[in-house]
Amino acid sequence: MAKFSRLFYTLFFILSVSHISRANIVYNVINFGAKPDGKTDSTPAFLNAWSAACASSDSSTINVPKGRYLIGSLAFKGECKSSDIAFQIDGTLVAPADYRVLGQASNWLSFEGVSGVTIIGGALDAKGSGLWACKAAGTNCPSGATALSFTNSYNIRINGLLSLNSQMYHIVFNGCQNVHVERIKIIASGDSPNTDGIHVQLSSNVVIVNSTIKTGDDCISIGPGTKNLWIEHIKCGPGHGISIGSLAKDMEEAGVQNVTVSKAIFIGTQNGLRIKSWARPSSGFVQRVRFLGAVMQNVQNPIVIDQNYCPHNINCPGQVSGVKISDVLYQDIRGTSATQIAIKFDCSAKNPCTGIRIENVNLIYPNQVAQSFCTNAIGKTLGSVQPNGCL
Ligand SMILES: *[C@@H]1O[C@H](CO)[C@@H](O)[C@H](O)[C@H]1NC(C)=O
Ligand SMILES: *[C@@H]1O[C@H](CO)[C@@H](O)[C@H](O)[C@H]1NC(C)=O
Repeated sequence: MAKFSRLFYTLFFILSVSHISRANIVYNVINFGAKPDGKTDSTPAFLNAWSAACASSDSSTINVPKGRYLIGSLAFKGECKSSDIAFQIDGTLVAPADYRVLGQASNWLSFEGVSGVTIIGGALDAKGSGLWACKAAGTNCPSGATALSFTNSYNIRINGLLSLNSQMYHIVFNGCQNVHVERIKIIASGDSPNTDGIHVQLSSNVVIVNSTIKTGDDCISIGPGTKNLWIEHIKCGPGHGISIGSLAKDMEEAGVQNVTVSKAIFIGTQNGLRIKSWARPSSGFVQRVRFLGAVMQNVQNPIVIDQNYCPHNINCPGQVSGVKISDVLYQDIRGTSATQIAIKFDCSAKNPCTGIRIENVNLIYPNQVAQSFCTNAIGKTLGSVQPNGCL
């Protein structure tokens, strides 16, 4: 009996401690002065709610009720005492209507040096179309702000967020570790400039799953220093596809390694699965990439490695890429190409691509014969591969 009650009290103690450690304090932005009217500047209210959550050592939830909140450029900075802060967003954050207000800032909403931040639900309406129109007119326009950026941050989760009409990139992870992005939606016009959906660089252990991205540039772009990236079930289009690169922008550059893109669907995109580097010297590299189970619908360049990127022949004429690409698998990829060249490996003359494997790929160019094109690419084909013959 004594043994039993000791066990009972031990259990009771464990349960109460775990309960205490999960104490969750709710900070409602309305109580900090935010107004869900879409007109009142709620930036200070959001910042004060963040400061309160950040200063407490408890787990906390910052609650954003239904409604529209006008928010200017805003940085949520760490370090925080709390290592568990969730934004529960039932409303929409709206950027100022005049694009010049955010245009000079690098970011609209940014998290810097934080750990254990979760964003659940919500919408970000960045109102970028004014800036896109300015850029299309070619007059003096600011470069524009990224809608949501995370810098030097750890243990980040985003679940169910909608990002609309960013001025520039929608979501950026730079110098982050342990990131999980799930069920998000990104929407911008197919001709909006530089509105990449998600950009990852200098980051490791990043997962992006079950998301839809319609935009004017890359759906997902993967920059230098990306390691252990897992992308699964992404629907992309309109957009420029999923792209590793551009790389070799700088001479000293970190490599990209261990990237998996599984079960992506591309609809009417400019590219499908792309690796792209400038034709310039660089210490960068790309190693161990898995492109698995993709479907292409009317994609201009379904499979492409382009190591001779040099727009307008500026800053690289006559040079070759220093980036070494190796160990890249394309497996179970099917669908339609919108151009005759469905597979293109245009690799560096100095550093040929090695260890390219194409396995069970079937890409057709409707009513005509699809073709493949390779230069400086070494590897092998396995199973049934259409179009075949250039490796
Ligand atoms: C994506 O969503 C489906 C259906 O909701 C679910 O079964 C699957 O596990 C999810 N995939 C990932 C990688 O989370
Ligand atoms: C590659 O990354 C995945 C996660 O995306 C991870 O599970 C795996 O262990 C990594 N492999 C290597 C060899 O690092």
